[in-house]
Amino acid sequence: MKFFEEKRKEVMGHIEKFMLEKMTEYLKPIDTIWQPSDFLPDASRSTFFSEIKELQESAKGLSYDLVAVLIGDTITEEALPTYESWLTMVEGVSDNEEGGWMKWTRHWTAEENRHGDLLNKYLYLSGRVDMRMMEVSTQYLIADGFDIGTGHDPYRNFIYTSFQELATNVSHRRVASQAKKDGDTLLSKMCGVIASDEARHAKAYKYFIEKIFEVDPNEAMLAFEDMMRKKIVMPAHFLREVGLKIGQTFGHFTDAAERLGIYTAIDYVDILRELIEDWHIESAVDLKEDGEKARDYIINLPNRLLRVAERMKNPMLEYKFSWIHG
Ligand SMILES: [Fe+2]
Ligand SMILES: [Fe+2]
Repeated sequence: MKFFEEKRKEVMGHIEKFMLEKMTEYLKPIDTIWQPSDFLPDASRSTFFSEIKELQESAKGLSYDLVAVLIGDTITEEALPTYESWLTMVEGVSDNEEGGWMKWTRHWTAEENRHGDLLNKYLYLSGRVDMRMMEVSTQYLIADGFDIGTGHDPYRNFIYTSFQELATNVSHRRVASQAKKDGDTLLSKMCGVIASDEARHAKAYKYFIEKIFEVDPNEAMLAFEDMMRKKIVMPAHFLREVGLKIGQTFGHFTDAAERLGIYTAIDYVDILRELIEDWHIESAVDLKEDGEKARDYIINLPNRLLRVAERMKNPMLEYKFSWIHG
């Protein structure tokens, strides 16, 4: 066990310099990156109330399921304290408070923080949402945390974040196009810029894993296999509403997303395929026997999952969320 931790720390130290070199590519300069206020009505202007009226008119056209998915996405973003504290617990991150990995964690968190901020303000102004109910769910989700099966292992963690940033990219991108269809171009723009942040973050985490594969391919392969056997769970899998037990709302949220085609079982397979390709899994070298087996499992997984996904029915059960008025 001791050896395992030491080796992980050593590899984290090795890829730290590559991360620092690329940091300005994966995270944008703070002074010029977009901020929530770039998209929201400005309360200091005389046009504020007419802009809100316009915002509310457009928001009226959003379908019930789309509002539900947007609220679930917002709560997921707002649970950022969970993700930041968990990143600092990863082996090799917080050993040095002023070190590169802590810097990465702070700067990544600072970018992510704009997502929940923007969506929350939009939802508040939209008039479609019972804000108190949404806020209760947010507080619950942060208090409940998550259980994603990575432990403190950087390999498993960065495999998870690579997957998850790609998944949030898909989800925000699809909400953007649905919002546009429903006539809400402002919301569409908002989700579009968030999606492009997520795409950049995905590139970063994928790059870290690529670097890990270069120096520790067998362990990286075993970590990838382990995460895929456990299945990648969403960060909001403990989502609940007032009066419900932990996790009881999550299935209704993902059902709404599946019904609308915002994020589906097919998307899960597509993301896995992308990772297999980007990390050159099929042509990986220097594997031991268990690493070879892990690779075979991973390579065969997309087709297996696809057969399961194709048999799955679109969830039809309608659900009334406490978050949404009327
Ligand atoms: Fe985000
Ligand atoms: Fe993200």
